[in-house]
Amino acid sequence: GTCALALLNSVGLLMLLIQQNQQNVLLEQAGDRLTQVEQSSVVEFLQEVPRERAQRNVGKPQYQYSRNKRSDALELDEGQEKTLELPGADGMPGINGTDGIPGLNGLPGADGKRGKRCLIKSLINPRNVTKMESTFGTWMKDTAVLNDERVWVAEHFSRLLREYQSIAALQSNSSDIVNVRKFYQGCGHTVHGGSFYYQIAGTSSIARFDLDTKKLLTLTVDDALYHNRAYLLHNSKTYFKMAADENGLWLIYASNLDESIVVAQLDQKTFSITSYINTTYPRTKAGNAFIACGVLYVTDTKDARVTFAYDLLKGKPVNVTFDLRPPGGVLAMLSYSPKDRHLYVWDNNYVKLYVVYFISDE
Ligand SMILES: *[C@@H]1O[C@H](CO)[C@@H](O)[C@H](O)[C@H]1NC(C)=O
Ligand SMILES: *[C@@H]1O[C@H](CO)[C@@H](O)[C@H](O)[C@H]1NC(C)=O
Ligand SMILES: *[C@@H]1O[C@H](CO)[C@@H](O)[C@H](O)[C@H]1NC(C)=O
Ligand SMILES: *[C@@H]1O[C@H](CO)[C@@H](O)[C@H](O)[C@H]1NC(C)=O
Ligand SMILES: *[C@@H]1O[C@H](CO)[C@@H](O)[C@H](O)[C@H]1NC(C)=O
Repeated sequence: GTCALALLNSVGLLMLLIQQNQQNVLLEQAGDRLTQVEQSSVVEFLQEVPRERAQRNVGKPQYQYSRNKRSDALELDEGQEKTLELPGADGMPGINGTDGIPGLNGLPGADGKRGKRCLIKSLINPRNVTKMESTFGTWMKDTAVLNDERVWVAEHFSRLLREYQSIAALQSNSSDIVNVRKFYQGCGHTVHGGSFYYQIAGTSSIARFDLDTKKLLTLTVDDALYHNRAYLLHNSKTYFKMAADENGLWLIYASNLDESIVVAQLDQKTFSITSYINTTYPRTKAGNAFIACGVLYVTDTKDARVTFAYDLLKGKPVNVTFDLRPPGGVLAMLSYSPKDRHLYVWDNNYVKLYVVYFISDE
């Protein structure tokens, strides 16, 4: 009897040991994943970004807790609204270095060539394109390839991009998925000349991912703030902001020496920095920023107005201010596209377009 009981006990013990061993393996796997996650600084992000759905829930904000949830968040809201108006007739082309006159409720004159000093007068014709489920994100068209109508959507933190064949496909939520090989972070990306440019999460490096060949190049930026929540753009949790304009490609970041906003001009062919411009404007005063026609525009911390502008070609501030949107909610992104002279905006879960209306300053 005692012998049988002892045997039973040791079998039980063996089973326990086996179970424990399995659990250890699982724990180890989880540990490995966590290390991976920590290394790519996901943790910093997870602690900060409220779950997208939490917005709809009254009470305490909830927090995103898994990588799956993040990729799920790429999906669109069921109740998404299809509010894009059809563009109106094109405006008149500009005459020898002056602005084109914008078309009525439509695109500005496609051939309007601006003079060197093209400053923004105002933003006109705001249009809702669609509603997104996520509060933070970036939506982009290629800012250089003229007949590419594809739209890409990047969540705040992921390795995946959604690719839509057109704005209509974005509105009907029909997309493909592109793996860009490294985790990206923030809302400062751009698609330019067939490549997706992004901050490699947790690092001081910018990646250029060729959407066609899938080739990845990286560029390390010295003396930039890139982690520990010392954001360039606090409202959108963005350390590096890529920008394309009539002059090519720029990179906006905050210096780790004095926290001022620095703009680097990039050489697209070699993917290297050709010059640095120290705007001396403190990152702490910046809500968001974009570049159009060689001028950096920075919004106030409520993202309601553009309150600072800096001529990057002349290397001095310019006296330009204009309204952007009513304060409130999260403005995740605003980017200018020299291809269609629109501002691409992600505001309070809506992706929107504004027509940029320039004045020539002569
Ligand atoms: C959008 O598409 C994804 C998959 O492509 C799907 O999982 C999701 O449910 C769709 N969202 C809506 C609102 O239809
Ligand atoms: C525009 O420039 C061209 C060439 O410089 C000139 O021939 C033409 O008269 C100009 N047009 C106007 C409207 O100024
Ligand atoms: C876009 O949608 C928001 C939220 O529904 C609404 O308040 C706003 O008026 C819309 N804007 C345009 C230009 O339709
Ligand atoms: C930017 O310029 C200011 C004023 O000249 C200077 O004090 C500051 O150190 C410069 N910052 C960088 C990052 O070069
Ligand atoms: C900036 O422009 C405004 C309006 O045009 C003007 O009132 C103001 O004096 C200008 N400020 C500077 C510093 O030039």
